Amino acid sequence: TSVSNINHDFFIIAHRGASTYAPEHTIPSYELAKEQGADYLEIDLQMTADGELVAMHDEKVDRTTNGKGFVRSYTLHELKQLDAGSWFNQQYPKQAKREYIDLKVPTLEDILKHFGDSVNYYIETKNPIKGEYMEEKLLALLEKYELLQKGNKVIIQSFSENSLRKIHRLNKSIPLIQLMKYNHPATVSEEQISHWKAYARGIGPNYQMIDETYVKKLRDHNLWVHPYTVNHKKHMKRLINWGVTGVFTNYSDRGVEVKQGKVE
Ligand code: G3P
Ligand code: MG
Repeated sequence: TSVSNINHDFFIIAHRGASTYAPEHTIPSYELAKEQGADYLEIDLQMTADGELVAMHDEKVDRTTNGKGFVRSYTLHELKQLDAGSWFNQQYPKQAKREYIDLKVPTLEDILKHFGDSVNYYIETKNPIKGEYMEEKLLALLEKYELLQKGNKVIIQSFSENSLRKIHRLNKSIPLIQLMKYNHPATVSEEQISHWKAYARGIGPNYQMIDETYVKKLRDHNLWVHPYTVNHKKHMKRLINWGVTGVFTNYSDRGVEVKQGKVE
């Protein structure tokens, strides 16, 4: 299917950075996503034992570093001793854009310092140990780097409604995305939509479980719809034609091509 010209915002969200080609949630992964033209860098946040916010998807360091155990049992100093890139060279030698050596797990502050306002941020609060702390710390960092004054430069997402509602109480200007994991074909009621509209700008569902009706209902209420994780162009095109307003993808390069209307 070709893509009718996209007559609405359509964000390419680099899922954990350019995570097909570089170790996820590292500076090179984010740099490559920016180069590929992604609209947003997705950053999953975990917290260290000493309360620092770091970019990591899993609660444990085992899959993406040479370490073992929970992120929350490491101090930042200890975490910074780990190698966060070699695993990728071994596991994905063909996909890797280059050999990744001496990569560290970045803190959110490392990332904000590195990119400043040259990119847009799509930040996920993962289940923090001390709920209150993650959100306040996150907002304080975004304030410090003056990223909250400019439109949709920062979007915050979470599977946790509590986390999003806490942020909404602290700062009503940040667009919030309620992530949803459906284990059955998704349907949505009017009351569900008004429940979400009290705090959320949009919904992030798993793309395999939604259909055109679901998307149109949310779009009729002007909610953004950002399905994850969409890696094939044909799925991107189908979802765009349903009216989704962005996708999380491990292939920002493909997403940009689809967005530019380049047919296969
Ligand atoms: O945040 C969107 C998507 O990344 C949610 O799934 O498990 O990849 O963080 P996960
Ligand atoms: Mg995520």
